[in-house]
Amino acid sequence: MAGAKPSAQAGGAARYVPEHHDLRSLENAATSCRGCDLYKDATQTVFGHGGGDAPLMLVGEQPGDREDQEGLPFVGPAGRLLASALEDASIDPGLTYQTNAVKHFKFNRSGKRRIHQTPRRIEVVACQPWLLAEIEAVQPEVIVCLGATAAKSLLGSSFRVTAHRGERLEWPKDIVVDLDPQPFVVATLHPSALLRDRSDRRRANYESFVDDLRGAVAILK
Ligand code: URA
Ligand code: SF4
Repeated sequence: MAGAKPSAQAGGAARYVPEHHDLRSLENAATSCRGCDLYKDATQTVFGHGGGDAPLMLVGEQPGDREDQEGLPFVGPAGRLLASALEDASIDPGLTYQTNAVKHFKFNRSGKRRIHQTPRRIEVVACQPWLLAEIEAVQPEVIVCLGATAAKSLLGSSFRVTAHRGERLEWPKDIVVDLDPQPFVVATLHPSALLRDRSDRRRANYESFVDDLRGAVAILK
């Protein structure tokens, strides 16, 4: 399956990524990324956060309204749901590094409110160099893609979370990273989708999300 190919794009984040891939240099450099237009309306770059050698990397879509203001991933409502799911899966958050496929908040204004907009493919591709650099820096054993945007960034635009959720997937062959061994990838739902879920399957869907997280941590050696 074809992953996102930053080299096929003009622009993108690649030219802002420093040669030195330690997390602090990356985070610093990302503050002034202009790899796509999303920096223009957002407050700040929201880089990943967590253990620099965490075995489990959790990748969301993009920062939300709260994350954009605070400069940290998963500190808003979706983050609270994620934290409770980690707790229900008996996963120590200290084992995780949490980040997003896209590092700037994309939104539409509606009066005073800022309404989340799904990033376009071109923006996901533009931002992928930051995600790959984080993966090289942290060297996780397992990467959990939370929702379709993260999954498509790593596993290609034809990847369907519903068809493969919870599966242990090999690192995509077409994405070259300096990693040995290469991490496994698991795709599951996005916590925001569970927050929006008003169906009578809400509880069951939450439980299956917790199960996917448990499955991912079970891959760890
Ligand atoms: N949703 C995400 O995908 N990431 C965040 O950081 C917050 C909400
Ligand atoms: Fe750079 Fe990503 Fe922000 Fe676009 S979304 S400006 S590529 S950090």
